[in-house]
Amino acid sequence: MVSVGVNFGLDLAEEIAELKRERNAVILAHNYQVPEIQDIADYVGDSLGLSYQAAQTGADVILFCGVHFMAETAKILNPTKKVLLPDLDAGCSLSESCPPEKLKAFLDQEAAKNYYVIAYINCSAGVKALSDVICTSGNAEKIVRSVPADRNILFVPDQNLGAWVMERTGRKMDLWQGNCYIHVEFTARSINKIREEFPNAPVVAHPECTYAVRLLADEVCSTEKMVTFCRESPAREIIVVTEAGMLHRLKKEIPGKLFIPGPTENCFCGECRFMKMNTLEKAHAALLSMQPEITLPEPIRQRAEAPIQRMLELSR
Ligand code: 13P
Ligand code: SF4
Repeated sequence: MVSVGVNFGLDLAEEIAELKRERNAVILAHNYQVPEIQDIADYVGDSLGLSYQAAQTGADVILFCGVHFMAETAKILNPTKKVLLPDLDAGCSLSESCPPEKLKAFLDQEAAKNYYVIAYINCSAGVKALSDVICTSGNAEKIVRSVPADRNILFVPDQNLGAWVMERTGRKMDLWQGNCYIHVEFTARSINKIREEFPNAPVVAHPECTYAVRLLADEVCSTEKMVTFCRESPAREIIVVTEAGMLHRLKKEIPGKLFIPGPTENCFCGECRFMKMNTLEKAHAALLSMQPEITLPEPIRQRAEAPIQRMLELSR
């Protein structure tokens, strides 16, 4: 029996915990979410970890605190479960850079017929449905290496992640010209400036950063691997070049080290405006009203599921 009234005796986090029990819900949160959300989540991680959690959960309801493509991926994997996103407008500039209609028109050309399409998970269900396999920043290298040598690869939508994987694997790919509006704000000049201030601090950067920034980094990896790198590094000070929400988890799980946010060229905050649309209040409202819910046309969902399952199998 679900009692859906607001209990004024409890604070928001306690109310969320109670609603979660009543709904048999699980809260999955990305590493860029605001600290209050990370602190009440059952799991906080990168896109790959979140996909595995979504694929394995026994909960009836998934409250996905991340951006739209992440919640959509959870829905693709769980057609019979309710998947809630605190703010339905939490999109992604990278995903927007590759509309499914544009990709379809490109792939319909005679010269594009034989492409093997690898889609970075930061894309819509419509783009996933047109792809052969999905990858994340955590497994992109492995996925690219799994493609037979005689296939031409089209990598969508992130040109920077794609270029990074080409550097790592030596595999030539054609790259869709999309990017993340946050990660391209970090520049060689802004990173060199902070390195002058902290000369002993290694730099860890996300592969969505440009080539010039990746060149300056000691490690380039997914947000989950950043946690491992920072924990294992003997350094006491580390420069972290990615969305600013990452610092909360690092400070919480690795006390005693100084994490320095990589500055952007224009001293812009480094926060993804889409990730920051979710708030604790909206998470609470979503569990209370069971809205906003992610829905998908079944034929698209089915076509999008196969390349995600292929990714999960390949990166086990
Ligand atoms: P990760 O999978 O590395 O967490 O990256 C997700 C993302 O959106 C980066 O901008
Ligand atoms: Fe998309 Fe960039 Fe935000 Fe990640 S940080 S969700 S890639 S806009």
